[in-house]
Amino acid sequence: MTNISHAQKLVVANWKSNFSWNEAQNWAQQFRGENQHQHTYVVCAPFPLLGALQNESFTLGVQDLSPFEAGAYTGAVSPTNLQGLGIKFAILGHSERRKYFQETSELVAKKVEIALAHDITPIVCVDRDQFSEQANTLGKASQQCFIAYEPIHAISTFGGQEDPLEVTLEAIEEIHSLFQPLGVLYGGSVSPENSLAYLQNEHIAGVLVGGSSLKPEVFAQL
Ligand code: PGA
Repeated sequence: MTNISHAQKLVVANWKSNFSWNEAQNWAQQFRGENQHQHTYVVCAPFPLLGALQNESFTLGVQDLSPFEAGAYTGAVSPTNLQGLGIKFAILGHSERRKYFQETSELVAKKVEIALAHDITPIVCVDRDQFSEQANTLGKASQQCFIAYEPIHAISTFGGQEDPLEVTLEAIEEIHSLFQPLGVLYGGSVSPENSLAYLQNEHIAGVLVGGSSLKPEVFAQL
């Protein structure tokens, strides 16, 4: 397993479908004034808000991507549409995409291919029952992805039942053996109270944060 120093950890905000343009700008303004840790902060914002978050201290990401290159795909957002917006990461295959939008591991693998072709680093989300199928569909592409371990029962809006750290670390070890990723993130009810346990662990490359990313003063404490 790769060991990652504390300073390089990724702290990724998943805003989901929250915030208006003005709220996004207010969040960014307030975040600038907070005392931040030495992490790489990434904000994965809804597509229409990306323009409101330019030239900030954090890195920008998206929460989904078209599985197709630009063209006749009504409603889909392709990497061409994102050019010039400074997008470095894409969360792909989040459990809410899998549950509410019927995304399969095959579809996620196609999105990964498109993202990689455009220098966007995928953060592929998996729960335990998706490990082997997602590893198979990704193949060698997983070497260029971060994998986010997100047990669905731990996600705040699906119950927020966090596992003991040993159980999470076992799952993360299994991911390292199946995927050979750039690193493994943990997601599910991450808060200022528990983030240190994850971020100080040498086998965890960072955290993916939903609820606790909506308040800049809370997000900056992670
Ligand atoms: P949560 O969400 O931090 O609110 O549990 C995490 C996620 O859905 O990525």
